[in-house]
Amino acid sequence: MRVVVTGAAGSIGTVVTAGLAGLGHDVVALDRADFDAPQASRVVVADVLDAAAVHDAVDGAEAVVHLASIPSEASLPEILESHVHTTAVVLDAMVDAGAGRLVYASSNHAVGRTPRGTHVGADTPPRPDTFYGVGKVAAEALCRLYVDRHGLDIVACRIGSFRDRPESRRNLSTWLSHGDAVRMVEAGLTTPAPGFAVLYGISANTRAWWDLAPGRRLGYRPQDDAEQYADQVLAEPETDADRFEASYVGGPFAGDAWVRPAMDNSR
Ligand SMILES: NC(=O)c1ccc[n+]([C@@H]2O[C@H](COP(=O)([O-])OP(=O)(O)OC[C@H]3O[C@@H](n4cnc5c(N)ncnc54)[C@H](O)[C@@H]3O)[C@@H](O)[C@H]2O)c1
Repeated sequence: MRVVVTGAAGSIGTVVTAGLAGLGHDVVALDRADFDAPQASRVVVADVLDAAAVHDAVDGAEAVVHLASIPSEASLPEILESHVHTTAVVLDAMVDAGAGRLVYASSNHAVGRTPRGTHVGADTPPRPDTFYGVGKVAAEALCRLYVDRHGLDIVACRIGSFRDRPESRRNLSTWLSHGDAVRMVEAGLTTPAPGFAVLYGISANTRAWWDLAPGRRLGYRPQDDAEQYADQVLAEPETDADRFEASYVGGPFAGDAWVRPAMDNSR
């Protein structure tokens, strides 16, 4: 399958580009950073906001994996541009080019203010913890609109914590390994006719408390488990921050440290 990967120079994009190429996909790697992707059949250096460049990259592709964005908190205008405007450009290019499948890098922060003890599944109502989370909620809504209007198939992956290995107590629940990230994207690309679907992008962590069943129904079979790192992570004494992080889906993003005016663009 010819697949365009946006954000291909980033941490997830580098792994996914190599992984999809290794599975036999023909990958067009796009990023605004100057980068190289030896496994890709084509490298495009362009901003996703450049509609002509994205249209050209998507032409002839069957699918897009949209990862490009600011992967953290920013002002609301920056967030809307980075998550919603870029997604709109990708979706319009897909409609024009006849590319029917999108795997969208959403985030747990779309439901980040959901307290522990609540079932966290595909039907969990939007409950963002930051403007970043608002951006992911809005981008998911835009995806759903394009599924209904244009018959696209879109899998929104609410990613947990993509890391080489778990780095905190929270990560023992939220970790997404490199291998499972590729398995997650591959499932999103190949599951038959999902319409609009949501999955949680975490590994098969023993301490996971977000529902993996929606992903499994889409063919996502995570194989890694953060538990193999538990002894190392738990060797450090538990802190108040650890306890707070465990109490909301979004961990630290649900805390007061992230509260700021919407138009404040100081990082
Ligand atoms: N890393 C995680 O744990 C995590 C968790 C939840 C969601 N996500 C989401 O996954 C996606 C990828 O995250 P990441 O950790 O790889 O981030 P990253 O910052 O490592 O990579 C993002 C890449 O996107 C590129 N980019 C940003 N805006 C662009 C634009 N307008 N046009 C072209 N390229 C652009 C950057 O140059 C960068 O290479 C993001 O959408 C992020 O919100 C990541």
